[in-house]
Amino acid sequence: MIDNTIKRIGILTSGGDAPGMNAAIRAVVRACKYYDIESIGIRQGFEGLIANDMIELGPRSVRHIINQGGTILKTARSEEFKTKEGREKAFNTLKSNNIDGLVIIGGDGSFTGAKIFHEEFNVPFIGIPGTIDNDIFGTDFTIGYDTALNTVIEAIDKLRDTATSHNRVFFVEVMGRDAGFIALNSGIASGAQEILIPETNDSVEELCLSLENSYTSGKKSSIIVVAEGEQLGGVFEIAKKVQAHHPEYDIRVTVLGHIQRGGTPSCQDRVLASRLGIAAVEALLDHKTNIMVGLRSNRLVQTPIEEAIKKHNEIDQELLRAARILSV
Ligand code: F6P
Repeated sequence: MIDNTIKRIGILTSGGDAPGMNAAIRAVVRACKYYDIESIGIRQGFEGLIANDMIELGPRSVRHIINQGGTILKTARSEEFKTKEGREKAFNTLKSNNIDGLVIIGGDGSFTGAKIFHEEFNVPFIGIPGTIDNDIFGTDFTIGYDTALNTVIEAIDKLRDTATSHNRVFFVEVMGRDAGFIALNSGIASGAQEILIPETNDSVEELCLSLENSYTSGKKSSIIVVAEGEQLGGVFEIAKKVQAHHPEYDIRVTVLGHIQRGGTPSCQDRVLASRLGIAAVEALLDHKTNIMVGLRSNRLVQTPIEEAIKKHNEIDQELLRAARILSV
């Protein structure tokens, strides 16, 4: 049933940007037009809500953005929104702009802020998972993850060329502050010898053993993919320890960093973002609030925001096993 009390929806992107966020903004704006309601963009995430930094959006103002990385609305991690005063200002901005509901594209930090805001001021909102890390419960994929994976494997393929030419061991750090999804999947796809992620108990000794075995079996170069959140002290420290065990190895370290967050979104991210954008508007019009829309087994699903924040997607044991089998 269409909720007639929703006449104007505010959209914002928050937290780390992710390729495909623009496709989600476009989908929200166009779904609003389809259902004959207004949409307004809020710049710089919750910062813009506090500072009343708004832009009217219509179907034509979101043309030619489906293929652009980043976010036309810009993004921020707002410290002020963490305060009661900040959230009060944000609520006043919403009222003065006649905004009846919010679509928030971001990660769990953004959803936590939105949840508190909802509890205090009863503002209806729907979350759309947008982060390259793929670490949000309630969806198989987050917007930006697939593009980031493709960026990573392209980079590692290039590193592989030079690693092979020089018989070197390359340690490659990929993003994933708390999760190893990027590392595990890009590691398998790029043929890594070892993949170190926060979810597993790794040790430098085991890593050395794996490298020794690979040398004995005839490998002259190796790629080790290390997730940013790995618990062994960081990629440089790990490389240093391996070098201490094996002074004969020619070791190099590459940190891929923020290139993983940019670039043209993949087809998968554009379609995912488009579907979730529409689903978010329809959920608001269906009287839903405090939920996140996501995709499970290629079906649109809704998850209470509390669960999306608190629960974690498990690392797939079958993928870990595959990585081990393939590195013989
Ligand atoms: O949350 C996405 C993410 O890219 C993490 O993987 C990374 O640790 C973090 O953002 C980096 O954040 P910033 O852009 O603030 O350095």
